[in-house]
Amino acid sequence: MDLSNSLPMANDTRLRERAAKVIPGGMWGHMNVARLPAGYPQYFDRASGCRLWDVDGNEYIDLMCSFGPVILGHNDPDVERAAAEQRQRGDAMTGPAASLVELAELLVETLPHADWAMFAKNGSDATTSCVTIARAGTQRRKVLVAAGAYHGAVPWCSPSVVGVTAEDRAHVVQFEYNDIESLEAAARKVEGDLAAVIVTPFRHDTRRDQELATPEFAKAVRRICDSADAALILDDVRAGFRLALEGSWEPLGVRPDLSAWSKAIANGYPLAAVTGNERFRQAASQIYVTGSFWCGAAAMAAAVATLRKLKASGAIASMEASGNRLREGIAEQAQRHGLPLKQTGPVQMPQMLFEGDGEFKLGNRFVLEVLRRGVYMHPWHNMFLSTAHDFASIDRVLEATDAAFQAMA
Ligand SMILES: Cc1ncc(COP(=O)(O)O)c(C=O)c1O
Repeated sequence: MDLSNSLPMANDTRLRERAAKVIPGGMWGHMNVARLPAGYPQYFDRASGCRLWDVDGNEYIDLMCSFGPVILGHNDPDVERAAAEQRQRGDAMTGPAASLVELAELLVETLPHADWAMFAKNGSDATTSCVTIARAGTQRRKVLVAAGAYHGAVPWCSPSVVGVTAEDRAHVVQFEYNDIESLEAAARKVEGDLAAVIVTPFRHDTRRDQELATPEFAKAVRRICDSADAALILDDVRAGFRLALEGSWEPLGVRPDLSAWSKAIANGYPLAAVTGNERFRQAASQIYVTGSFWCGAAAMAAAVATLRKLKASGAIASMEASGNRLREGIAEQAQRHGLPLKQTGPVQMPQMLFEGDGEFKLGNRFVLEVLRRGVYMHPWHNMFLSTAHDFASIDRVLEATDAAFQAMA
């Protein structure tokens, strides 16, 4: 069903026409709305709290939070003030500002696994640096990666193999998430050459139900890394600071050697971090990683303000409370309307897929019905809540979903 004419989209359409001439494919990557059913806006004008306005003035409650970075709500005043103050003094300077040290200290104080921190810009920078540090520290080559897991858009791990050579992946070996036997088999296959296992805190692959890590699986990853003297890399880029401020596997009692962070760390400012333990400190000091903008001081100041506010405000409990209200409300509605919707993963990072909906026909219809009622959802990527999603906004979402289910049923 094409609902593309149900919202005003003239400005969006004009921008897309211009983009088609000067941007390959009109848009690249995960934000290309050609990946979504027709009717989604590509371009946005502004955002505030849990709300988003497109270039045609349509207003949405945003359940994507920029695919994760926005955790305190768009344009959080405390974060914006900290970033603006630093930017006025200097941002991209000839060296870092004091906020770099302050942020590293804050991360080491917050994350029990971490003795040090380094910074970059994107999650892919952080995961790639973790792998480089693990190889440097162990003097080995092989990296075990869960099949289907996303660790970034660079040749060793990109989900597309277009433009990637076999050599780029020569030392990457796959296992099945939450499957201890397959992990053990993969480790045996590379015995003597295992540098690292890289794993996300839970299975949040797109286009499928999410799966929490079983405590047995998390412990097996730790045991296998210990017995092979390899690094356990926790890729907390997507889940980081939404499940547990101390690191997403801390509640399971499993500590990584290296962790990759980005997305929510600075409430939308571009920043990534690698944190690590004493064992990998020397390797981290020996590798050569850098980028022209990696020391940008405004993003560091934004991250300090973000982490302080997350710690001071009971942020995780607040996102969980809103997430539970959303999950329970939607479950009741789906049942009442007789629609087979399955909700998986942590409530603050919900995935909603219809059972047996392999081609997302029901999912696409649902998100379009919701979109035209002022709520921005995604048909097959996990969504994200922020602390700005209060009960009133969740209830607004539930009004839209109820009407959407009704239209579908
Ligand atoms: C688990 C995970 N790792 C790494 C990345 C890569 O981060 P970025 O897109 O900032 O390079 C992502 C991005 O979605 C991610 O979800």
